[in-house]
Amino acid sequence: MDKIVALCKRRGFIFQSSEIYGGLNGFWDYGPLGVELKRNVKEAWWRDMITNHDEFSTPAGAPSPFSMVGLDCSLIMHPQVWKCSGHYDLFHDMMSDCRETKRRFRFDQIRGRWIHVERDSRGQHHYYIMTDADTPEGGLEDTVVRACKFFDVRRKDAEGAFTWQSPGMVGISPQDDLSKVLVPGASTPGTLTPPREFNLMFKTTIGALGGAEDAAFLRPETAQGMFVNFKNVVDTVRVRVPFGIAQMGKSFRNEITPRNFTFRSREFEQMEMEFFCHPSQSRAWYQYWRDRRYQWYLTHGLASDRLRLRDHAADELSHYSVGTADVEYAFPFCEPGEFGELEGVAHRGDFDLRSHMEGKLVRDSTGCLAVETGEDGKPRHPGSGKDLNYFDDQSRERFVPHVIEPAAGADRATLAFLCEAYHEDSQPDEKGELQTRVLLKLHPKLAPLKVAVLPLVKKDGMPEFGLDLYREFKRAGIPSYYDQQAAIGKRYRRQDEIGTPWCITVDGQSLADQTVTLRDRDTLEQIRVPRDRIVDEIAKRLRG
Ligand code: GAP
Repeated sequence: MDKIVALCKRRGFIFQSSEIYGGLNGFWDYGPLGVELKRNVKEAWWRDMITNHDEFSTPAGAPSPFSMVGLDCSLIMHPQVWKCSGHYDLFHDMMSDCRETKRRFRFDQIRGRWIHVERDSRGQHHYYIMTDADTPEGGLEDTVVRACKFFDVRRKDAEGAFTWQSPGMVGISPQDDLSKVLVPGASTPGTLTPPREFNLMFKTTIGALGGAEDAAFLRPETAQGMFVNFKNVVDTVRVRVPFGIAQMGKSFRNEITPRNFTFRSREFEQMEMEFFCHPSQSRAWYQYWRDRRYQWYLTHGLASDRLRLRDHAADELSHYSVGTADVEYAFPFCEPGEFGELEGVAHRGDFDLRSHMEGKLVRDSTGCLAVETGEDGKPRHPGSGKDLNYFDDQSRERFVPHVIEPAAGADRATLAFLCEAYHEDSQPDEKGELQTRVLLKLHPKLAPLKVAVLPLVKKDGMPEFGLDLYREFKRAGIPSYYDQQAAIGKRYRRQDEIGTPWCITVDGQSLADQTVTLRDRDTLEQIRVPRDRIVDEIAKRLRG
């Protein structure tokens, strides 16, 4: 991971936000190459969801043809939106502060992962993993090893090698006794404050007066924009259920522990789609979107052994969800066997449209969703009161559509594509000595630059020939780069490192027979292509 972070900085993919002032934790800036890469990721998503979507034919696995439209909603929405969606009451983490180190931790990251420490009468430390369950998630052995690594608890085994596991010293402690937890970096156990709730929404104020009633929130997800505009879309663009509304854009969450580079940030971009369908077809659509979204990542270059589709267990489901599956990727920062979430595909039933009609919903004692009421018997967070039913004029049926939601993160997808693309190999340099070559094997559709035009030397008409070709690529709308500085091997390596799939070299023969060399980043194969066919050749490869 360190190598990928360093490359991102060195080559202008991703910078720490406000770096010259020491940075701001959880915020990132995309540099000249990063902005192109992320734009390509988003464009590939939008193309798949909207631009290339054919609403008159039934794609494989789908129950029927369907329409897809886009939206771009405001970042700040009416505060009632978040009360009805449940974010106002439920979108929080429990957190604990360390009084000594002044570090803040999510409580769920302490439990089951951390250990508390006790010293026996002989002065020997005993370590325990704090967990509620007898068998922590991931298994006891795995948790013990992780905890020991975290606290650097190592032992020499019989052969003299160091091992993380220290049987006899580590046991399970079933109680949540914070007084015994030793925070990394703290000198004594018991420096953590009791856990307390922390809402993840960023608060802001609308207008100059700034009273309590002017409080608003930066959106923590893009999804609500689609729900509150459901009726606008149905009434204006002649879509029929089933159809989807997609949106991509910024979301904000005041994460307690932003970490793992851009993976958990406080400002990030989402790519979400809400698919509205008849309740009787919702399970089939859930299956369809679950499979299709997984396939999208595979098609764009995430190798299948690091990518997985995981169905949530019943106790993992959100309060509204009937079923959810996550697309997950084994990022380099994940422990062996662990994965990080790229996208959640959720069957949300009629929760969202009903909440915005009737008021915030909760599960009642029978397990059904009902409007939550206050002590006065009135809805605690009233809905809009607008009719968000759908009327099917062919079947003459009126119903609240069910929603299937594939919710992806543009930054997490970009990071996964970068991690997957990072490779090192050994190649001989001009003197025949083996050099480490770093390359990003990005899918050509995602690569920031598609071609680099490189004259072999800076004379004999080669620069003019190369510049002319470079301009032709630009006119064709193919992102390209012209470089005549340094030895050709060094220029190739520069392009390999930023993921440019093809280099075109102009040499002496080019001027004689009007051909150029086309070099492939991954195979290093070089072929000669006529000058007047090279732009079409690259365009064809990009379409492929
Ligand atoms: N509307 C449902 C929803 O927002 P989510 O699982 O909370 O679901 C969807 O978010 C996706 O947004 C995640 O799978 C992830 O890719 C991305 N995401 C969520 N929180 C993030 C964060 N703090 N930093 C970067 N990406 C995040």
